[in-house]
Amino acid sequence: MVENWSPSSWRSKPILQVPTYPDSKKLEAVEDKIKSFPPLVFAGEARNLKTQLADVAAGKAFLLQGGDCTEAFSEHGPDNIRDFFRVFLQMSVVLTFAAAKPVVKIGRIAGQFAKPRSSDTETKDGVELPSYRGDIVNAIEFNEEARVPDPHRQIMAYRQSAATLNLLRAFAQGGYANLEHVHTWMLDFVTESPLAERYGKLADRISETINFMKAIGFDAARYQRLRETDFYTCHEALLLGYEEALTRKDSISGDCYGTSGHFLWIGDRTRQLDHAHVEYFRGIHNPIGLKCGPSLEPDELLKLTDILNPDNEPGRLTLITRFGAGKVEDHLPGMIRAIEREGKNVVWCCDPMHGNTVSAAGYKTRPFDQILREVREFFEIHRAEGTYPGGVHFEMTGKDVTECIGGAKEIREEELGNRYHTHCDPRLNANQSLELAFLVAELLKTDR
Ligand code: PEP
Ligand code: CO
Repeated sequence: MVENWSPSSWRSKPILQVPTYPDSKKLEAVEDKIKSFPPLVFAGEARNLKTQLADVAAGKAFLLQGGDCTEAFSEHGPDNIRDFFRVFLQMSVVLTFAAAKPVVKIGRIAGQFAKPRSSDTETKDGVELPSYRGDIVNAIEFNEEARVPDPHRQIMAYRQSAATLNLLRAFAQGGYANLEHVHTWMLDFVTESPLAERYGKLADRISETINFMKAIGFDAARYQRLRETDFYTCHEALLLGYEEALTRKDSISGDCYGTSGHFLWIGDRTRQLDHAHVEYFRGIHNPIGLKCGPSLEPDELLKLTDILNPDNEPGRLTLITRFGAGKVEDHLPGMIRAIEREGKNVVWCCDPMHGNTVSAAGYKTRPFDQILREVREFFEIHRAEGTYPGGVHFEMTGKDVTECIGGAKEIREEELGNRYHTHCDPRLNANQSLELAFLVAELLKTDR
């Protein structure tokens, strides 16, 4: 057991980004209800993921993490989940082939509902209302009633997560992810893009290899690794009352796990050493992430590492760096040197999304070339420092949205309004996601 910790010990610490619920009795009742619900994931699965992340830390595997900025109740449907899963599989095949290493797959899905905001309120046409904090807290519509935090939404988020996870597990283990289907993962609108040929060629090579293996007796019907894949879930564990309600003691190890998702992370706005989020995270045994933005100094990073991973367990802690293109050089080397000097075991993962948000034509967007530039800088700096660039973290969707500008099938600024569907940050669409995977693949090949 972790000393002086309980699933609720965060409650005595200062906390940021917390919604103000008007009725605390109602909130308590909902939290009690969720405490009685089944866990969404099992401790054993979280442990397996930790083992796979230990391989990433050791340079023997690569991490692909991605999905919605925030999931929405109104977007919950089988097609969205399938299209996301499909493009994610395509990306991971591209990366596996290039890296010649296993790709650890973690979706920002089945629990990614709570959002930190830079301001507590939002003003439109002179009207000031509380900010939207994700569907688990309040509604996105701009009116007073919608913006009141409603605890019942936590139950809806729990149920949506359970249903999403159910379909994802079926896809991962029920045959959809069978490598023999590598051609059928192509999405219709990707077929018309410059990437289709590139992906088609790769899929041909994989099919050929599989046919050869079949001929010598290694067919998917007999080998689970060809037929199934491991797919894990992650989200920012921001809403701690909900997370506490799903924190369970594992009967095998006696340790506590957050069972709302396999991998949980601390956002860049809530990583204060003596605050509630760090307190909650130090006691759960999941693999966890820490977002590292430009304001995090190497000394503080080391202190956080000591608190969050006191035993220096490999696979426990992933540092997700997000500085913005052109700023990686100012911050990453100092962090890497501090971590290396102290012999800390971490996974380094690049989030090239959150430091590259700009406004254009009245929309929050991200230029594809800036996203790519940050990934490049991340790889270059790790190469120079002699450390392993372990993974990438994207905000992406399987849909043909127009939220980020640029890419080979270019989205122009004036097209942003066409299919801008995100409830929070702009996501890469399926084409841009796959294109980025090919570009990361080139960086991985150079490193081999
Ligand atoms: C996010 O990942 O959606 C997010 C809010 O990131 P960060 O904490 O890095 O700003
Ligand atoms: Co985001």
